[in-house]
Amino acid sequence: MKVTYYGHSCFLVETNGKKLLFDPFISFNELAKDIDVNSIQADYILQSHGHTDHIADTVAIAKRTGAKVVCSWEIHEWLNKQGVENTHPMNIGGKWQFDFGTVKCVVAQHSSAMPDGSYGGNPMGFLVMSSEHNFYYSGDTALTMDMKLIPNWCKLDAAFLPIGDNFTMDAADALTASSFIECNKIIAMHFDTFGFIKVNHEQVVNLFEDANKTIKMPAIGESFDI
Ligand code: NI
Ligand code: MN
Repeated sequence: MKVTYYGHSCFLVETNGKKLLFDPFISFNELAKDIDVNSIQADYILQSHGHTDHIADTVAIAKRTGAKVVCSWEIHEWLNKQGVENTHPMNIGGKWQFDFGTVKCVVAQHSSAMPDGSYGGNPMGFLVMSSEHNFYYSGDTALTMDMKLIPNWCKLDAAFLPIGDNFTMDAADALTASSFIECNKIIAMHFDTFGFIKVNHEQVVNLFEDANKTIKMPAIGESFDI
């Protein structure tokens, strides 16, 4: 599976021939100014919650590409009002089989309001289980005991976890999360974008190395294979 990082918590994951875009926040991200948001292709957009730093580019990309947006019921209704009709509403605990694999929505300990202040439902994380790879995209979340359930559902090849602290868990909690979810291949997200979440990269990498685990802190625009 090929992964491309577009900054903050936005990744494009290519699995089973489909392009899955997570939490697009690009055109308002100073650090991602070299990314051409209009060139991004997607078959699906997986939307973890409604905060602006996750949804700012969703409407434009969904309209341009026709990608199906997978999200909470409340975000689905909000997107429909913005003229995005190709949506698939879900909620925590539920799963659905798409043409690339199965998505299961899992608990995220966070909050969710839409950019206009309307209610965004509960935030969620996604387990993506395909014949090619299984991975976990946690969205914004605290470390939570619910993560211990994930190994009951699938054996993960990789996990995308926030490490920026202040709004989400920090790197030390992400290290604990990697034990809860039984996954030693972590991809960092939700760091450096704003002053509140700047991290020391060397400290983060060393923290994981000392525990014999790996954390990838991708550069914006970088593509890599998992
Ligand atoms: Ni958030
Ligand atoms: Mn956020």
